[in-house]
Amino acid sequence: MDSSLTGITTTGTPHLGNYVGAIKPAIQLSKKFKSYLFLADYHSLIKVNDPDAVKESSMKIAATWLACGLNSKNSLFYRQSKVPQILELNWILSCMAPKGLLNRAHAYKAAVDLNKENKNDEDFGISHGLFSYPVLMSADILMFNPKYVPVGKDQKQHLEITRDIADKFNKTYKNFFQLPEPIIDESLDLLTGTDGRKMSKSYNNSIDLFSSEKILQKSVNKIKTDSKEPGEKKDTKDSIIFQYFNHFSDEKEINEIKKEFEDGIGWGDAKKKLFLKINQEISPLRDKYFELIDNPKLIEDTLEDGETKARDEANKNLEQIKEKIGI
Ligand code: TRP
Repeated sequence: MDSSLTGITTTGTPHLGNYVGAIKPAIQLSKKFKSYLFLADYHSLIKVNDPDAVKESSMKIAATWLACGLNSKNSLFYRQSKVPQILELNWILSCMAPKGLLNRAHAYKAAVDLNKENKNDEDFGISHGLFSYPVLMSADILMFNPKYVPVGKDQKQHLEITRDIADKFNKTYKNFFQLPEPIIDESLDLLTGTDGRKMSKSYNNSIDLFSSEKILQKSVNKIKTDSKEPGEKKDTKDSIIFQYFNHFSDEKEINEIKKEFEDGIGWGDAKKKLFLKINQEISPLRDKYFELIDNPKLIEDTLEDGETKARDEANKNLEQIKEKIGI
């Protein structure tokens, strides 16, 4: 069976857009492929230096994925930090990674450009971790030699760097790595923010996946609409409300909604209906999520189970890699 691998950043709280655009599709994919899903907790150190926040974030994100239906029997679910072989491979790949390639990585370049703009030293505030982020990412991936790596558009360059590093290794030593293929979902920003811009924490227009019912209702009420009165025909094309319905309804329900838009449903009624629809899907997941949060041992045991398997596989691969390089 082909395999797929993806990393989940352990910063921030997942919002409804992450659920529709990333979590749901990844869980679907994990039913088709042997699937590696891991929490990129070492990557989070680039941004977060508060130990409690790092720990809490991993548990919350793990609980989110498990609550949303990730089946840890079909997938290897683990923390990056619990598979130390990845860090060994990181060094080996560092020696294969041209510095010039890393100089061109978007996140690093953006940080340098910002420093120049602010007339700071080019390296001001930039850690070596930020600079070598793409190498650690290539180690995450190549450790398990997956065929596919589903990622957001913003990660495309990181996959190219991974392929370059893998190719250099294969040419320097004997072929070992398959060049992983990105699966890039161009429509990852499936849900627009409540104000019509891209959904983002920093715009304050996102809806937390597991906010309380009351807050969910409030957020849905905030979604921007045009100023058409009840009774006037509503357009589905540019309607954010319709876009949300589209992601939470089956075909039959969508046709009904279309008809109601046509018949001039009032925005107030449409929002009430939309809240109920979203809540119907999220509510059991929310219950499960809080059950897990109250039972961290269960999360820990599930992760440890995945980590034991991941370490076993990583060890086998690493032994072969080390043999190739003469160590
Ligand atoms: N950098 C990715 C992101 O920000 C997370 C990540 C880390 C990842 N390692 C990975 C994704 C390996 C895919 C494969 O989303």
